[in-house]
Amino acid sequence: MSDSHILRNDADVRAVVDNVCERGDIALPELDLLLRTDDRPSVEYLHAKAREVAQSVYGKQVYMRGLIEFSSHCRNNCNYCGLRRANRGLPRYRLTDEVILQCCRQGYECGMRTFVLQSGEDAYYTDERLCRLVGRIRAEFPDCAITLSVGERPRESYRALRDAGADRYLLRHETADRHHYGVLHPGEMSFDRRMQCLHDLRDLGYQVGAGFMTGSPGQTTATLFSDLQFIKSFKPEMCGIGPFIATRNTPFAQEPSGTVEMTLRLLSIIRLLHPHVLLPATTALGSLNPFGRELGIKAGANVVMPNLSPEVNRRQYNIYDGKICLGDDITHCRSCLEQRIRSTGYELVVARGDFK
Ligand code: 5AD
Ligand code: SF4
Ligand code: FES
Repeated sequence: MSDSHILRNDADVRAVVDNVCERGDIALPELDLLLRTDDRPSVEYLHAKAREVAQSVYGKQVYMRGLIEFSSHCRNNCNYCGLRRANRGLPRYRLTDEVILQCCRQGYECGMRTFVLQSGEDAYYTDERLCRLVGRIRAEFPDCAITLSVGERPRESYRALRDAGADRYLLRHETADRHHYGVLHPGEMSFDRRMQCLHDLRDLGYQVGAGFMTGSPGQTTATLFSDLQFIKSFKPEMCGIGPFIATRNTPFAQEPSGTVEMTLRLLSIIRLLHPHVLLPATTALGSLNPFGRELGIKAGANVVMPNLSPEVNRRQYNIYDGKICLGDDITHCRSCLEQRIRSTGYELVVARGDFK
C-alpha cells in the first residue's frame, strides 16, 4: 500500500488534524492532504478543532476593528491590487484629519474600540503629518487601540508613529516565498525589505499583523507551506487571510480568483498552529460569498473589520472588485454584523481586543 493511499483514508485525515493540533506543527504532505481532501466530514472536523482552539483562548467573543481607508494614493504597483499607481482610471482621494476624526467618533458610538487607519503608500503622509493625526486620535480616544496599515516605512518612521500613540501595525507579508514574491510584485519591490519592516515593527513594540491572500497567481502548496512556517516562527499577533480577487485594470485581471473553501481551511490550520493569533474573517471573504464572514468565524476566525470610511470614498478605495458594504453606513453594518455573528453562536463585543 502506498503512502498516498494510506493518507487518502478519511479516518486518516482526521488523524492528521488531531496530530497537527497536538503538535502545533504541520508537515508539507499533511498540508497537501488537508487542502486536497474532498471528504466533507473531515473538513468539518478541521473547522471544529479550530473553533475549539479559538474558544479556549478568546471564548465565544468576536472583536470589531473600525477600518478607515484614509488615502487611496499609492506609489507602489503590486500586480494584484486595484490601487496600484499604474491604474490611472481610479479617482484618488485623501481624507482630512477632521473627516478621519468624524469617522472615529461614529465608530466609537457604534462600539469600535480599535481604529485601523489604512492607506496606499502615500508620500503625502510624512512622519509629521501622520504623527499629528495619530496624536489627535490618541488624545480623543484614550481607551481605543490605534492600528496603522500604511505600508513600508523606515524604522525611524515606525518609531515616531509608535511614540505618537500607535499600538498595532498591519503589514501582510503577502508570501514567504521569495520567488512567489517576485511573481506578485514588480522588480522594484523587495522581499527582504518587507521582512525587515516586519522585524522593525516587532522590535519597536507594535502588535504586528502579517498575512497573505489565498489563491493568488503563482501560489502553490509549497509557497503556502512557507507562509505557515513563517507564521509559526514570527508569531504575528494578527494574521489577515483573504482570497485573492481578480480585479480590473491590474495585470492579474484575467487570473482565477481564490476560493472561500481554501481560505477557510487555511484559517483553521493557522488557528491550530498559532492558537492565540487574532484572525479576521476578512471583507474579501464576505465579498466572495454572502456568508463568507460567518463561515470564517466558524473556521476559527475571531475578528471582523467593518468599514468606517465615508460612503462616497468606499468605492474609490478599490483594492479589489466586488467589495461589500459599499452603500451601508456603520450603524447598519454594526447591526448587520451583530446578527450575523449571533447566528454563528458567537457574540460581537465592545472591547479593544488585544492579543492574549
Ligand atoms: N484581492 C484580495 N486581496 C487583495 N489585496 C490587495 N489586492 C487584493 C486583491 N486583488 C490585499 C493585500 C494587501 C491588503 C491591503 O489587501 O494582501 O496587503
Ligand atoms: Fe499599494 Fe498596498 Fe495596493 Fe500594493 S497592495 S498597490 S502597496 S495599496
Ligand atoms: Fe455591512 Fe452587512 S456588514 S451591510
